[in-house]
Amino acid sequence: MIGDRASEATRRRAGPAQAQAIAGGGRVTGPVPEITLNDGRRMPQLGLGVFKVAPGDTARVVGEALAVGYRHVDTAEMYGNERGVGDAIRASGLARENVFVTSKLDNDHHRPDDARRAFERTLAELGFDYVDLFLIHWPLPTRDSGDFVSAWRTLVEFQRDGRARSIGVSNFQVAHLEQLALASDVVPAVNQIELHPHMLNEHVRSHCERSGIAVEAWSPLARGRLLDDRAIAEIARRLGRTPAQVVLRWHVQRGTIVIPKSATPVRIRENLDLFDFELSDEDMQRIAALDRGEAGRTGPHPDRF
Ligand SMILES: NC(=O)c1ccc[n+]([C@@H]2O[C@H](COP(=O)([O-])OP(=O)(O)OC[C@H]3O[C@@H](n4cnc5c(N)ncnc54)[C@H](OP(=O)(O)O)[C@@H]3O)[C@@H](O)[C@H]2O)c1
Repeated sequence: MIGDRASEATRRRAGPAQAQAIAGGGRVTGPVPEITLNDGRRMPQLGLGVFKVAPGDTARVVGEALAVGYRHVDTAEMYGNERGVGDAIRASGLARENVFVTSKLDNDHHRPDDARRAFERTLAELGFDYVDLFLIHWPLPTRDSGDFVSAWRTLVEFQRDGRARSIGVSNFQVAHLEQLALASDVVPAVNQIELHPHMLNEHVRSHCERSGIAVEAWSPLARGRLLDDRAIAEIARRLGRTPAQVVLRWHVQRGTIVIPKSATPVRIRENLDLFDFELSDEDMQRIAALDRGEAGRTGPHPDRF
């Protein structure tokens, strides 16, 4: 479904932030819009996250996702399943350049030589000679295992030698991003952070927006905790959609990149099926009002982890 008609249809259905992302240079591949990053590369706005997918199940799960139209997978050395991601992409018959693959530098590998070895392991596990996006997984400001500025300079090397097409960070707070900006001219393309209706993470999100850093939401469904919420259930019933689709559509309309995880075929399909309905401004605001601030966090705090 590539082409002007598809682009036009998606533009008409899109909410304001998404329409802006498309009008701002994104093109449509299948039904999923693309976000243009600050390095000029494009990234599908929705992908499959594979945290906690068992290594032995990963090739099957990613294979299901590719078969229904996902073209973006988010993995990490920490998840232990990069090999299954690479195997699924090879088995799918899709050209490598048609699938966007993100992986991440594991904790305790921030020293340059450790980072170089870790990145080589990632490429070897995936079985690819490049990744589309490579992220520093956590800033780890309290650990004595190298520092994120040295790690960032090493990621810049990977981008210059072409083995990481785009580079970015994950779980970086505003202070970490400011420290990086003082030390390097290369601005991260992406900051992957915890963000969902229970934790809007607005301070970090708005800083990224002002700095030209694309925001990617991890645990977009708050690991499933949002799906029993009464307001979301009511909106879902009214629109004939599932609660997960309502939450994911909310992220998409805000222009955020999302990577919901599911190992369940029917949910994998459901989570991609977001591009033929729209939430009203009122529903968007109702969902944003579910914010619980820090109390809504499901994962560790980046200043302390
Ligand atoms: N950078 C980081 O530090 C970081 C941290 C955490 C996560 N991540 C990334 O973000 C991705 C997503 O985050 P996450 O896995 O923590 O949480 P999530 O995507 O918010 O939620 C996943 C949970 O929701 C369930 N689920 C998914 N779709 C559903 C649907 N349509 N209906 C009902 N339940 C549904 C899944 O169950 P089933 O699998 O059983 O279907 C799973 O239990 C991860 O996989 C990983 O790639 C990154």
